[in-house]
Amino acid sequence: MNKDLFVVILAAGKGTRMRSSLPKVLHPLAGYSLLEHVIHTAFSLKPKEIRVVYGHGGEIVPETLSHLDVKWVKQEEQLGTGHAVKQALPDIPDEAEVLVLYGDVPLTYPSTLSELIKTGNGSAHIALLTAVLDNPMGYGRIIRNQKQDVTHIVEQKDANDAELLVNEVNTGILSAPSDYLNKWLNNLSNNNAQGEYYLTDIISMAVQDGLSVDTHSAENEYEMLGVNDKLQLANLERQYQLLQAENLMREGVTLRDPARIDVRGTLSVGQDVVIDVNCLFEGDVSLGEGVSIGPNCVLKDVSVSSGTVIKANSVLENARIGAGCHIGPFARIRPETELADHVHIGNFVEIKKAIVSEGSKINHLSYVGDAKVGKCVNIGAGTITCNYDGANKYLTEIGDNAFIGSDSQLVAPVKVGAGATIGAGSTITKDTADDKLTLSRSKQITLENWTRPTKK
Ligand code: UD1
Ligand code: CA
Repeated sequence: MNKDLFVVILAAGKGTRMRSSLPKVLHPLAGYSLLEHVIHTAFSLKPKEIRVVYGHGGEIVPETLSHLDVKWVKQEEQLGTGHAVKQALPDIPDEAEVLVLYGDVPLTYPSTLSELIKTGNGSAHIALLTAVLDNPMGYGRIIRNQKQDVTHIVEQKDANDAELLVNEVNTGILSAPSDYLNKWLNNLSNNNAQGEYYLTDIISMAVQDGLSVDTHSAENEYEMLGVNDKLQLANLERQYQLLQAENLMREGVTLRDPARIDVRGTLSVGQDVVIDVNCLFEGDVSLGEGVSIGPNCVLKDVSVSSGTVIKANSVLENARIGAGCHIGPFARIRPETELADHVHIGNFVEIKKAIVSEGSKINHLSYVGDAKVGKCVNIGAGTITCNYDGANKYLTEIGDNAFIGSDSQLVAPVKVGAGATIGAGSTITKDTADDKLTLSRSKQITLENWTRPTKK
């Protein structure tokens, strides 16, 4: 097909059954709104232009998705699908092909749609995506004549008993020539059970104009399913997650349970990655060769280099993790953290905006924030960088090979020298010398005459 393709996405409907103040098409599925999924799919068809018809919920829809290069068309009143498409048609050239998608049908494959627009023999025709359902309830029915040619579509609410028995249904997705579409939509009436301008009425008009109506079906039923309520949203979410899990396994990832992983964004993986149950990946996550992720981890916008092991219940966000690191269990890595290779971060350790160099270890119960940690540093249990004075944040710098004794506070801004040792329990407020022991600790005393109080 050499005609220019214009995609019209219908997204003006109310979505009453979502019972939400958020417009239906903005509800997220796997981290992107329903409408964003549809727009992404539309882009993959390389159309000349994408036009999104919005209305219910007002400007919040175009405002939320303003980063996407689509044209927004407002449908002031929701008078039906035919009326909606009509709003988007002005100035689409006569020679173009128009593909209609629904903003609440998120999982249609691009390949299904490119097959759909390829159907027909080059002459003017309508391509209609239909499906055969065990339960066609609620859908428009595809009515065929004795030759099995499509003659029209009848909506559930307008159908007679015989028509209701038809289980071939209209998915709503169709493709038609712009000039004809324009003409047909101008001739629609709303004389039907719902008092709406039905897009589906163009089918009988096309037949009258001598065009053929070619039907095509999707390989998978979920490709045509729309979201009307939270149950359908949850079902499609699970469906989508399972598809992503299957793709990961095809790439060689070992998933301990493909039903217990959620990817809300993109997850790229090297060879021999193992992911245990109940992990959540958000944004852009990349896992290098041989990376192992324990159960119940959350990784958001993180890159992890090869051979690193992340143990159970760790939460990492906006961080770069080197190779051969050990992290967790119960570690929290906060934004702007960079861990070099072979760093160990143990349990109940929080790292924020810190650069930790190769081979350093922070293994127990510490907070290291706004810090530069040198190579092969050992930070003892319970160490805290006091980075905040209530108004501003300050840097803590720790030189290579330093040893920070347990339960120390490093009051920033402060530098610990290379090779320095800090005695356990110290509060360090001044820079410390290289290679020397520094400690601030009150002397230990024993009171000879003291007795423990007893109950009166
Ligand atoms: C429509 C079809 C029906 C099909 C079904 C598939 C018509 C008349 N009926 O019915 O044959 O089986 O979809 O799900 O086309 N919308 C607007 N503006 C409007 C009305 C709707 O933008 O004025 C949008 C909605 O947001 C939605 C889509 O169009 O994304 C479909 O509208 P909906 O009211 O759900 O159509 P159905 O009655 O389900
Ligand atoms: Ca619907």
